[in-house]
Amino acid sequence: MNGVANLLLAGKSCVGEIAFVDLKAQQRLIRERIESRLKAVLDHGRYIAGPEIDELEEALAARTGAAAAVACASGTDALLIPLLARGVGPGDAVFLPSFTYNATANAVLLTGATPVFADIRPDTFTIDPEDLRLRIEDVRRTGVLRPRAIIPVDLFGAPADYNAIGALASREDLFVLADAAQSFGGRFNNRWVGDLAPATATSFFPGKSLGAYGDAGAMLARSEEDVEKWRSIRWHGTDEHRKISMRVGLNGRMDSFQAAVLLEKLSIFDDELAARRSIAAIYDERLSRIAQPQRQANGGQSGYGYYSIRIENRDAVAESLKLAGVPTAIYYATPLHRMAAFSSYAPAGGLPQTERIAGEIISLPMHPYLSPDQVDYICDAVEAAARQAGR
Ligand SMILES: Cc1ncc(COP(=O)(O)O)c(C=O)c1O
Repeated sequence: MNGVANLLLAGKSCVGEIAFVDLKAQQRLIRERIESRLKAVLDHGRYIAGPEIDELEEALAARTGAAAAVACASGTDALLIPLLARGVGPGDAVFLPSFTYNATANAVLLTGATPVFADIRPDTFTIDPEDLRLRIEDVRRTGVLRPRAIIPVDLFGAPADYNAIGALASREDLFVLADAAQSFGGRFNNRWVGDLAPATATSFFPGKSLGAYGDAGAMLARSEEDVEKWRSIRWHGTDEHRKISMRVGLNGRMDSFQAAVLLEKLSIFDDELAARRSIAAIYDERLSRIAQPQRQANGGQSGYGYYSIRIENRDAVAESLKLAGVPTAIYYATPLHRMAAFSSYAPAGGLPQTERIAGEIISLPMHPYLSPDQVDYICDAVEAAARQAGR
């Protein structure tokens, strides 16, 4: 019998079912509080723009150190609205990694601007500032597009290298919009995600580290400069009375029920973050012998939305882990520049690091309710799977 099958037999009895993300355990903890929040919305009946929205915006700004937070309907809208507010559009180049979720590129294309993909660093899996610099130079030299904005993506929760990106952006006069859909709770140079760039977009999709019970997102601002425009665009581009259209906008509102859920989840977020960090520390320690865990950019600390490693024979490892009862996910097997919707923007010469890492990356279970036994079991299972796949 092989090592993985042994583990499966031993593990089933002692660790119980392992979830990739466990929303049920979290709900058991705060179910009553969420119910009473939802009941309050039913009672006041302001399903849109209820008092929970203002309360959540204040709480998010206070939690992150951002100057202001604007709640919206999704992480995708949180990316789109700040770009629209800055007038990003046709003829503009927006720089972003290809190793991300499609929403990052969709937001760029929905404005009419052109996505310019940059490669990632093989250790942090986030945008490579040196490759980014070369691509900005190239766009300037070619002269067809005007460089306008950079969207660094805090992949798996790890803040991109905001020191290098911030310096490059001020030298090149580019707007930085952080895609922090996966990194709420991350830190960089002792500042929280939300306060690392002029504008930050985050997602509260249910599986995110701070997740609603439906779609939701938020924009976080380092200064008040764009905030009124964000509020306007979120509400069909209207004025402060929500009557007269001042600009083109969309229905990008968060509803009061989602804000109610998020307020309760925010109240336990710090404890959950501490648990995520302890689990990640054990994974780091146990797995670095056989795999390459994601490293942090200098000064960065992940919010551990996901925990991801590079490992040889990734597909065989994933198969063995499945047999051992360990759920995994591959974010992302296909980089955006290899997908039909975005392949016309693929850089000549490809993106070598992105393409290599897409074949090696795997995400392991990561949520605050994993027991020490489960974490131990997962590490044993990864070790056994790697051994077996290497044979
Ligand atoms: C990196 C990244 N950007 C943007 C998004 C879009 O967020 P949403 O699904 O809330 O629109 C997501 C999440 O799904 C994401 O992972």
